[in-house]
Amino acid sequence: MKPLGTVLLLLLAVPCFAADLTGNWVVRDPLPDGTFRTTYLDLHQEGSRITGSIRVTQFYFKIIESTDGPDGFTLTASMTDGTNERRVKYEGQLMDDELHLATRRRPDAELIHMVAHRAPLGEGAYPARLPLPAIHKVADNGLAKTPPMGWNSWNKFAGRVDDAAVRGMADAMASNGMKEAGYQYINIDDTWEAGRDAQGHITTNKKFPDMKALADYVHGKGLKIGIYSSPGPNTCAGYEGSYGHEEQDAETYAAWGIDYLKYDWCGARNLYTDQEMRALYQIMGDALVKAGRPILYSLCQYGRAEVWKWGAEVGGNAWRTTGDIRDTWDSMTNIGFSQDQLAPWAAPGHWNDPDMLEVGNGGMNDDEYRTHMSLWSILAAPLLAGNDLRNMTPAILEILTNREVIAVNQDKAGKQGRRIAKSGDQEVWAKALFDGGQAIGLFNRGGAPAKITVKWTDLGMKTAPASARDLWAHGDLKLDGAEYSVTVPAHGVVMLKIAASSGIAATGIRGPTLRAAFN
Ligand code: GLA
Repeated sequence: MKPLGTVLLLLLAVPCFAADLTGNWVVRDPLPDGTFRTTYLDLHQEGSRITGSIRVTQFYFKIIESTDGPDGFTLTASMTDGTNERRVKYEGQLMDDELHLATRRRPDAELIHMVAHRAPLGEGAYPARLPLPAIHKVADNGLAKTPPMGWNSWNKFAGRVDDAAVRGMADAMASNGMKEAGYQYINIDDTWEAGRDAQGHITTNKKFPDMKALADYVHGKGLKIGIYSSPGPNTCAGYEGSYGHEEQDAETYAAWGIDYLKYDWCGARNLYTDQEMRALYQIMGDALVKAGRPILYSLCQYGRAEVWKWGAEVGGNAWRTTGDIRDTWDSMTNIGFSQDQLAPWAAPGHWNDPDMLEVGNGGMNDDEYRTHMSLWSILAAPLLAGNDLRNMTPAILEILTNREVIAVNQDKAGKQGRRIAKSGDQEVWAKALFDGGQAIGLFNRGGAPAKITVKWTDLGMKTAPASARDLWAHGDLKLDGAEYSVTVPAHGVVMLKIAASSGIAATGIRGPTLRAAFN
């Protein structure tokens, strides 16, 4: 035992600013739009030095600088993707075991104040890992015999989607010809979630006052409604995920009348490895089946862990094959033209998903959007419009509702098209159709108009097709001879449907290296 005097001396020697911040802290404060999202702080304090990490939405920042003093502490945390660095700064004070924090979203923005509470120790900045189930095959739900068609809120609205916008999209889709053209789903992406009630049920935030009423409204228009969640504790945007509540959430979705679930990985990626993904997706796949309502299951994990090899086994009707699309020519073409090797994995009920459409969002011209729509159709990709359906030009509506192009996408053979020839910036893709014909995309990725030639032998045909149709010009073509040449606009496409010729080879489309077409 130390003498009492020594203990007193020691106590007096502790500087008054050394309140210990060590521990896990969680912020669940309202944002200006009335929604909540979670920030985690994982802090370790030694003397006046504070280290650790801060997690804001899906982003992890490492604390690189700190100060601590009688007026409070400051933290600077940094995140880098290898090329760009992003920093966040917090000022704070510990008061009655609450961490009062202030930060700015941008250096010139106003201060945002928040309060963090202690999270259970030993859990890091996350809940504990739940045990994973043994792998098995989830029952097939029988949905998506052709690629899903609809609308999703993220590309245009991101966090600004709300009940009124969703109703507006349903009104527009039901009245502007999209519904008749085959569009069906109105899908709410991230940022609808609040927290959980005392029984653990997921609740909606104030942007979505009554999800059941909204689903009824969309159903009343003869459409279907989709929602979004994550296998992690939080979604990519930092809202509540389904982690540990999968069955309960699936039941809630079924009770609301939800028809489609997009299930997005990023909130789980620091708890589980890519190798464990399948088990996590299986949990929700089983939960959806158990909930008893047909809910299309769309996996979103950016094509990691070769999802095309197991996506169908977890009950998935579609799986993202890439990172997020942006409304630029480079983003769209880098994604779209990289899908060739995945063709064998697409089939009725189970589709490769190169992400949602950007058609009409303003970052590309109409030729480029025609390329986007044509390529996604040849790829048998989900056609989820991502623009504001209430407000688009006639040209954009025409692109989205071109029934001849949509028929290629929706062809019941369910075959994904392949690249059959490439020369520099020019590519020819072909998709085998149920009736024995083929859809052909002559794509010019170059910045100037270019002549592209397709030879019938490249398509496994001995003679010219018996008939051919230009799917954007909506006209029949008279084709004879051994090939067809056409000038294609910069960044544009000519898309044809050709019937089988009497001389078609038994094998159909030939292999993927027919450079001769451009010689
Ligand atoms: C990820 C997905 C996007 C979108 C956002 C929402 O980035 O890939 O499609 O759902 O999350 O936060």
